[in-house]
Amino acid sequence: MQPGDQEFYRISKLPPYVFAVINEMRAKARAEQLDVIDLGMGNPDGASPRPVVNKLIEAVRNPRNHRYSASRGIPQLRLEIVKRYQANYGVTLDPDKEAIVTIGAKDALAHLLFAVIGPGDAVVSPNPCYPIHQYGVIMAEGHACILPMPDPGTFLNALEDLFRKSTKPPRMILISFPHNPTTQCVDLDFFKEIIRLAAHHGTMVVHDFAYADICFDGYQAPSILQVDGAKEIAVEIFSLSKSYNMAGWRVGFCLGNPKMIAALARIKSYLDYGVFQPIQIASIIALRECEEDTRKICAMYQKRRDVLIDGLRRAGWPVEPPRGTMFVWAPLPEQFRDLTSLEFSKRLLQEALVAVSPGIGFGPMGEGHVRFALIENPQRIRQATTGIKQMMKDAKHGVRSLS
Ligand SMILES: Cc1ncc(COP(=O)(O)O)c(C=O)c1O
Repeated sequence: MQPGDQEFYRISKLPPYVFAVINEMRAKARAEQLDVIDLGMGNPDGASPRPVVNKLIEAVRNPRNHRYSASRGIPQLRLEIVKRYQANYGVTLDPDKEAIVTIGAKDALAHLLFAVIGPGDAVVSPNPCYPIHQYGVIMAEGHACILPMPDPGTFLNALEDLFRKSTKPPRMILISFPHNPTTQCVDLDFFKEIIRLAAHHGTMVVHDFAYADICFDGYQAPSILQVDGAKEIAVEIFSLSKSYNMAGWRVGFCLGNPKMIAALARIKSYLDYGVFQPIQIASIIALRECEEDTRKICAMYQKRRDVLIDGLRRAGWPVEPPRGTMFVWAPLPEQFRDLTSLEFSKRLLQEALVAVSPGIGFGPMGEGHVRFALIENPQRIRQATTGIKQMMKDAKHGVRSLS
């Protein structure tokens, strides 16, 4: 018997990645020299800030930085994130007990769940969602309890209902705003309500703040730690990936409740030796000197959003412009509503040469939608909407590409 013949316990609980279907089709089309416009994965296309890159080069030349680093992150980097929270949100954190550096937000999420969730513990999160929010719970053997989130108000009502009806309150609420993929945004009152409910029932709260700085039209996303008493029960996860175009560097933070941070630190002390030290040193520069880069990155996404929304409207596919994130979440156009999101995404790729993410990849409640990631420049986005317009026209007249 070969290992490949056996079912692996955890792997059997993880469905194949839906996005792989579109990725394969995109790769095949590109191999055939077709110019596919990739609005699929949320992978920032811009360069990391120059001072950060320069600092990395300097730090990597120093052999003292080649050793194992500290699993919870070097003190200076923890101090810098704490300063940023004080300056941006008026939130005071202890850099030793209430802040830990992680290998991106994904590491923080997956290992925090691993650290604090046990078999059968219910973790409530909105659906659709970023896949690790659901599958991180399943990998930790918790019970992923998903509530529909067409909008934050509906989610909150369903959550209140759940607390009222269940005999055992959920162990954790896991949320993320600005939200991937739905782009829904909230104000501080929403977080106050979440903290009030959770505190009343002794439930932990985790807020994934990956899109903290990607906000448009004057909207500023609040931190959940701005709520009085939030630190008693909540942590927030912040990442350099989107705010500073540093997705490949793998730097994030978990901030807030000291007990949850200590649990994560314990798990991580067994698993890793921290982010490569030169990267941590360069990350200090990002947090200390690169707020202007963040503003530029945000303005760039806003411009791309406007071009996409305008192009889709001209194509006869009106979509609400988001107030945050690097995505546009679009219900399928009316004449394609008999298709699944995967079938429609395949047609977009074949007929308009545009790659998007099918909504079903974000959970059952993502069906009926596709997600555009704003990772191509305005000219390419215009080219995408021209292709989509033609596809919509052809569909109206019953024309169908043969590819
Ligand atoms: C909601 C959300 N959380 C976390 C991440 C991953 O962040 P990181 O690169 O810091 O692991 C993403 C990336 O797309 C995301 O959308």
